[in-house]
Amino acid sequence: MAAIVIALANGKGGVGKSTVALNIQYAISTMRDTDSKPMNLNALLVDADDQQTSTKTCNARAKLGGMKVKGVYQPFQPIEHIFKDQDVESYVKMVTERHDFIVIDTKGAESDTSREVTTFANILLIPLSPYGFDKQALADTLKIVKKGQRFNPDMLVMVVFNKVDKKATAKNREGREEVNAIINEIFAVNGKTAADNNVFICAAELSYKPTFYSEMTKGYNVFEAARGVSLDPKTEYDKLLQEIQTRYAQINNAQEAA
Ligand SMILES: Nc1ncnc2c1ncn2[C@@H]1O[C@H](COP(=O)(O)OP(=O)(O)O)[C@@H](O)[C@H]1O
Ligand SMILES: [Mg+2]
Repeated sequence: MAAIVIALANGKGGVGKSTVALNIQYAISTMRDTDSKPMNLNALLVDADDQQTSTKTCNARAKLGGMKVKGVYQPFQPIEHIFKDQDVESYVKMVTERHDFIVIDTKGAESDTSREVTTFANILLIPLSPYGFDKQALADTLKIVKKGQRFNPDMLVMVVFNKVDKKATAKNREGREEVNAIINEIFAVNGKTAADNNVFICAAELSYKPTFYSEMTKGYNVFEAARGVSLDPKTEYDKLLQEIQTRYAQINNAQEAA
């Protein structure tokens, strides 16, 4: 079975591509089924950014080795990861049978690798802050996505709001409307909706939590950083994964029926 490829993209830096790549890799590999049994899914992390943010975090994690949970030292499960900023697709093809999921962290939509991933990823996540985001940069990213869709029409594309202040409801709504307008301008053409082109804005949002996310440079993921203090990151990522799963199933069921 080929792996499901989840790629992160956005022309802008600092929006949370590496952060989401790392946390989603962990969330997938620790996923449980409906009977709460570990699914033991194998998720490979491919770092396709020459700045190697996610590789550095993985290395820091390896050095850290583990953490104390309720006074008991627990070793981390190692993260399978590789730095590959060229020929990503041929690499993915080579190893796809060995993994359930392959998560690809990219440099940005303007880079060669992020153009490349839009042509073969099954799922493309575009993290974005809802506040004062660069409209032109988002439009440019989405135009690249649209080009990629010519080769890859079944790709699920989801904008994920990150660094969200849940209390700023008016601002959040405004940001959502602005992003929606940009998406519609690019994808709602020729009598089709953005949804017809598999492009959505996630209902699930990731909160702005600098105290937890800053711990990631030390090698923790956000769930470990928040352990014993807040369940929010876990709840948010669970919701996000569920939403991705539902949308992904819808696309693939429709495809099977056709
Ligand atoms: N939800 C969040 N809350 C607080 N800080 C965040 C959040 N998501 C990301 N960050 C921080 O924002 C910075 C940029 O994130 P990063 O994932 O490296 O972005 P990118 O890979 O898109 O350049 C990092 O310092 C990270 O810790
Ligand atoms: Mg990055």
